[in-house]
Amino acid sequence: MASAELIDGKAVAADLRSATAARVGGLYARHGIRPGLAVVLVGEDPASQVYVRNKHRQTEAAGMRSLEHKLPADTSEAALLDLVAQLNADPEVDGILVQLPLPRQIDAQKVIEAIDPAKDVDGFHPVNAGRLATGQPALVPCTPLGCLMLLDRTLGQNMAGRHAVVIGRSNIVGKPMGQLLLGRDCTVTIAHSRTKDLPEMVRTADIVVAAVGRPEMVRGFWIKPGATVIDVGINRLPPATEGGKDRLVGDVAFDEAKAVAAHITPVPGGVGPMTIACLLSNTLQAACARRG
Ligand code: GUN
Repeated sequence: MASAELIDGKAVAADLRSATAARVGGLYARHGIRPGLAVVLVGEDPASQVYVRNKHRQTEAAGMRSLEHKLPADTSEAALLDLVAQLNADPEVDGILVQLPLPRQIDAQKVIEAIDPAKDVDGFHPVNAGRLATGQPALVPCTPLGCLMLLDRTLGQNMAGRHAVVIGRSNIVGKPMGQLLLGRDCTVTIAHSRTKDLPEMVRTADIVVAAVGRPEMVRGFWIKPGATVIDVGINRLPPATEGGKDRLVGDVAFDEAKAVAAHITPVPGGVGPMTIACLLSNTLQAACARRG
């Protein structure tokens, strides 16, 4: 049976990290500037702790300064807003990332809107979302930016006029992904949990971006032969056999889709590694724009 070419996110992310590290080295050599990324973690969500540890390690490996702020789970909204104000005012801080989800006593939207848009390396602030939507230079959310880079590497100039179906309408992935694909002249459909006949809709897609958070929801028979499939999902399933290890699966039934698609991202090793690589590149972009 035909088998899709795998899109190697690990390799593309490694290239992007080394290009970023080289530019950071140049910035330091020429101007004595070392970009700084502040990461704020409230509480002890285990998945968030893993992300934050990886971010810290990779930020330092790229030659940037990593500043971590770990706050207890019962931190008040006012205390977090105070910290954000302090980071906004700190000239050594180029990027601010407040790890989500936040504990329930804190209004995440209020915190996002308190971040200086020039330091908003997550690209979640309405100013950056608006700039992206109106085609102006913006800080763009890291996960959809990483997906776009994988598509650029895979399809090059061949995206114009293609039908792209994005499954998921979140502010973090689905909506900005739709904007980025419009920027490549795709015809874009954003599908979601209320979309009628989702399998039929996906069957018309030349490009599928799945960001729903439901393990293996997108089946092989939904995929148009020759399509390019980008799987944003990272879902942990219990072991297939007793005593085995947890399995990580995407939002796409990988083996089925691989038999039909032309290109597909694996999970793990597809979109996942791109997110932090894009965060580092956004931090460099913010440092250059602020201190330019
Ligand atoms: N939690 C999971 N992914 C992300 C992300 O990209 N940014 C932030 N701030 N929190 C997250």
